[in-house]
Amino acid sequence: MSHTKAGFNTLSIHAGECHPGSEYAHVNPIFQSSTYSFPNIENGGKVFKGEEFGYIYSRVGNPNMTVLENKIAALEGSGITEKRHAEGDKDFQVVGLSFSSGMAAISSTLMGLLEPGDTFIAQTSLYGGTIDLFNNTFTKYKLTAIWVNDGDVASFEKAVQDNPKAKLIYIETPGNPMLTIVDIEAIAKLAHDHNMVLIVDNTFATPYLQRPLELGADYVIHSMTKYIGGHGTSVGGMVVSPHSEIMYTEIIENRHHIGGNPGPMDSWLINMGVKTLPLRMDKHCDNTEVLVDYLLNHPKVGLVLFPGLKNHPNYEIAKKQMSRYGGMISFELKGGLKAGAILMDSVKLMTLAVSLGAIDTLIQHPASLTHSNIPKEHREKAGITDGLVRLSVGLENIEDLIADFDQALAKV
Ligand SMILES: Cc1ncc(COP(=O)(O)O)c(C=O)c1O
Repeated sequence: MSHTKAGFNTLSIHAGECHPGSEYAHVNPIFQSSTYSFPNIENGGKVFKGEEFGYIYSRVGNPNMTVLENKIAALEGSGITEKRHAEGDKDFQVVGLSFSSGMAAISSTLMGLLEPGDTFIAQTSLYGGTIDLFNNTFTKYKLTAIWVNDGDVASFEKAVQDNPKAKLIYIETPGNPMLTIVDIEAIAKLAHDHNMVLIVDNTFATPYLQRPLELGADYVIHSMTKYIGGHGTSVGGMVVSPHSEIMYTEIIENRHHIGGNPGPMDSWLINMGVKTLPLRMDKHCDNTEVLVDYLLNHPKVGLVLFPGLKNHPNYEIAKKQMSRYGGMISFELKGGLKAGAILMDSVKLMTLAVSLGAIDTLIQHPASLTHSNIPKEHREKAGITDGLVRLSVGLENIEDLIADFDQALAKV
């Protein structure tokens, strides 16, 4: 089938499937093998040289990784590929590379694009592990992040002007956990005007709600541990880009040499999850919109952060670049940190756990969990107060989630 013309639900189910060698199995099998045999030494030599297609060793690639890579590349790239082909650019192709985690995808991509001594520009409000990577691990290799505190375009422009040698811009939108929204199209233009590339972490939105490549981004990153896999069974990461030459040299080499490949079973589980991504995302969004309303009207709740709220500072940008606003809410209780702790200890249906994007509702406290390693000063610049609670809204019946909030908030 021509994947570029099919609809999103169809792509989620069929893109990348039917790998040769699957013996016509209806569901693509798990290729639980660490190495691959060659029919003869001549073929082995050709596969090694890249003159013939074949699998060699699962760190380098296996059929389950390929299926997943092709599927996510089709989802992130569907609109732009169709557009570029219609414009006559028949060679335009979006490719994906899978990793053992979101962090492996982020580190391998940036280490592929940067060299020791390079600087790059990054948004202050990012997932805590990414901030740690940039501030701690990367500094050992002389890669320096220039932090931009506000998500507005003017702040990025100033950072670019002040740092003319910076090589790339790294953003996360919606950002974790402040749900910061950054204008992808404007930042992509800024990056390209200054000979830089733009990397977007699209974990919170997924390609169902937002497709950064269509807006001009160069690389899209996912923690597939979250909505892409969707069921909380596997850790995985993905990078998707039309820059296939760099993907298949600098970035894939980091996967080969550093070894951040996903296992066949995890790739298979995540691939099964992707098939219901559109259905799950619609339900995540439905439940979230009701809960935002509930929290806004609850007398014990203070601040509610959600990109779909008209008073969100970048609501208009969210509206322009997302089809809906996702399944994440951050909020503060009027009773601050103490009240938040009582809430998290009192919920019965919701689970107190980090991670997000699973079918069940997860609640957590960034200042003591996901963002606890980050210096308080960085946290404050990112706006992450000690009282902030982060909610990943699941697919349960909304009445049951509200009943759980009712009983837990009554104890606050
Ligand atoms: C936005 C975002 N990016 C990247 C990561 C890292 O992904 P992983 O935990 O799969 O390494 C996370 C993890 O929570 C995240 O929320």
